[in-house]
Amino acid sequence: MAEQLTQAEAANRLMRLAREIARHDRLYHDRDEPEISDAQYDALVRENAELEARFPHLVRPNSPSRRLGAAPSGPLAKVQHARAMLSLENAFSQDEVGEFAARVRRFLNLPADAHVAMTAEPKIDGLSCSLRYEGGELVLAATRGDGTVGEDVTANVRTIADIPQRIDGAPQVLEVRGEVYMSKEDFAALNERQEAAGGKIFANPRNAAAGSLRQKDASITAARPIRFLAHGWGELSEPLAGSQFEAIRRIEALGLPVTDLLVRCDDLTAMLAHYRAIEKARADLPFDIDGVVYKVDRLDWQERLGQVARAPRWGLAHKFPAEKAETTLEAIHIQVGRTGKLTPVGRLKPVGVGGVIVANVTLHNRDEIQRLGLRIGDRVRIQRAGDVIPQVVENLTRDEARAPYAFPDHCPECGSEAVSEEGEVDVRCTGGLICPAQRFERLRHFVSRGALDIEGLGEKTIAEFITLGWLHSPADIFRLHRHRGELLERDGWKEKSVDNLLAAIEAKREPEGPRLLFALGIRHIGIVTARDLLKCFATVEALREAATGQDAQAELSGVEGVGPVVAEALVDFFHEPHNREVLDDLLSEVRPKAFVSEARQTQWTGKTIVFTGSLEMMSRDEAKAQAERLGARAAGSVSAKTDLVVAGPGAGSRSSKAEEFGVRVIGEEEWARIVAQAG
Ligand code: IVH
Repeated sequence: MAEQLTQAEAANRLMRLAREIARHDRLYHDRDEPEISDAQYDALVRENAELEARFPHLVRPNSPSRRLGAAPSGPLAKVQHARAMLSLENAFSQDEVGEFAARVRRFLNLPADAHVAMTAEPKIDGLSCSLRYEGGELVLAATRGDGTVGEDVTANVRTIADIPQRIDGAPQVLEVRGEVYMSKEDFAALNERQEAAGGKIFANPRNAAAGSLRQKDASITAARPIRFLAHGWGELSEPLAGSQFEAIRRIEALGLPVTDLLVRCDDLTAMLAHYRAIEKARADLPFDIDGVVYKVDRLDWQERLGQVARAPRWGLAHKFPAEKAETTLEAIHIQVGRTGKLTPVGRLKPVGVGGVIVANVTLHNRDEIQRLGLRIGDRVRIQRAGDVIPQVVENLTRDEARAPYAFPDHCPECGSEAVSEEGEVDVRCTGGLICPAQRFERLRHFVSRGALDIEGLGEKTIAEFITLGWLHSPADIFRLHRHRGELLERDGWKEKSVDNLLAAIEAKREPEGPRLLFALGIRHIGIVTARDLLKCFATVEALREAATGQDAQAELSGVEGVGPVVAEALVDFFHEPHNREVLDDLLSEVRPKAFVSEARQTQWTGKTIVFTGSLEMMSRDEAKAQAERLGARAAGSVSAKTDLVVAGPGAGSRSSKAEEFGVRVIGEEEWARIVAQAG
């Protein structure tokens, strides 16, 4: 699919994917209620990665490849992980596993026939958890959350029988990481009990385990049959061993449960053989798994390989194929989003796919419905991958004479015209803030956690205030205090809840600039781009000036992290008088704080380094990764802007060019010393 899209279509699809994946992340991590399978989720992530690989300049600031799942919510306390909890890159074919092994060898600068031993083990379908022991005592247990900040589930974890409260002979600081899960048998029995008691029925064992662990009241966790399997570690005061395999054996010896399906493989053939063996055993295993995880065995190599974005270069998840099913498309409903986009959602005759009942599918957009030739009543083949939104992969009744589905040309929410811009696949409502759906979605976005994060101003309250005519645009939020008296008279509002809400709003009168910019809901401006922009312009006003100036497009595109798509979106946004009014109004109510960049500084931050000649101690990719870790940029050719040249033997013209520009030239060994000192 990625090969067929034009650039405009790809930009659009990437935007949609980012939103869709984020939504599924929230459903999965925050609500434990995924709508689609793991395999389907993976298909989305993969499509995103393929498109990004084909159109690197279209990589979005809020791209799923830059995130680590949804940030945690709910009532549990948040905890910062001592070391980030990473995710894994996925592979779906033997070829991709082969490519992974080759990539590892190349990065380590090993010959193509070198043996790189890898471990192979089941990928357990649970939720990851980090257990911190200090002096042998369990002191903290945390969920992954967004990878950097998780939730404190210490009290809950203390009720899990598999997990020792204290261990002998452990390093002073030991973080054991692994999967909390529920066995298939315990899951079925729990659902029976829940049904008998009129309680919540869980869709699958993973949701049941997550719902059981993330409880404010640990006595509920205690009553649930959840278990733990260790597969790694976080912070350590001393190394556990020299290899992945031995380290896991050590964790086992310390008294933590580990899988008995962990093996060390000498080569690709052995890895793939173990994959097939696990796939064969899958149905008979007591717990759900969704693939096999491979890890480079030598820990010094893992260290050198490091990570890229959210996943380590030394690990790979080889997933089992997606599951498919056939059913009937009973209706198509149109949802209107924040930017007015009309998204068709297919309602299905509910069908079981790989143990989950599926009743909704995303149909993406008008073109997708056309491509599949969908009509209400068609038989369709759907695919569910992992725990995320299912998709229609095939229409099984293509040749029938019934009229195809007509995509609406008016917004179902406000009746305004719905149009698609040239080169765009999405159809949008032109009603702007007149459209109740858009107004609602924009306000909801404005107060959401990543944006202004106003506590207590949830969906229901926003809807209530819109109906009352109190909320039209974001600035109105800061004028809600004028309605205090009326609000107190309304059902469900007491003095305390009203004052808490008003206080939460007042607390955001001096928001961080990037959050405010992100909260405006400008297309393509995620929080990362908002930060990149304000690193350069410092204030929203200065940005607006640039975006309405003569060379706006060129000036904005020149900002690090900002491409033409973002630049155009900014110019469009600030060109629209209504948006300028909304912003002026808002800035009359709030005073955003001046933006201070928090990036870690080293002596090399912002410097440009060129690696040249054939490096012998490391591959060029490894050298580049090292430079980036120090905050430097690795460039391909020497120019007056170059700060340092690292030259291997045979560097030739580049090092003579360096002399010409008076740039310092060093050898590989000296570079290694710089890296060691800075690290
Ligand atoms: S290793 C840095 N091993 O899969 C690598 N993860 O998709 C961290 N998972 O967040 C993970 N079984 O929650 C590893 N045997 C296994 C696993 C496993 C399940 C989960 C884990 C991780 C996710 C990544």
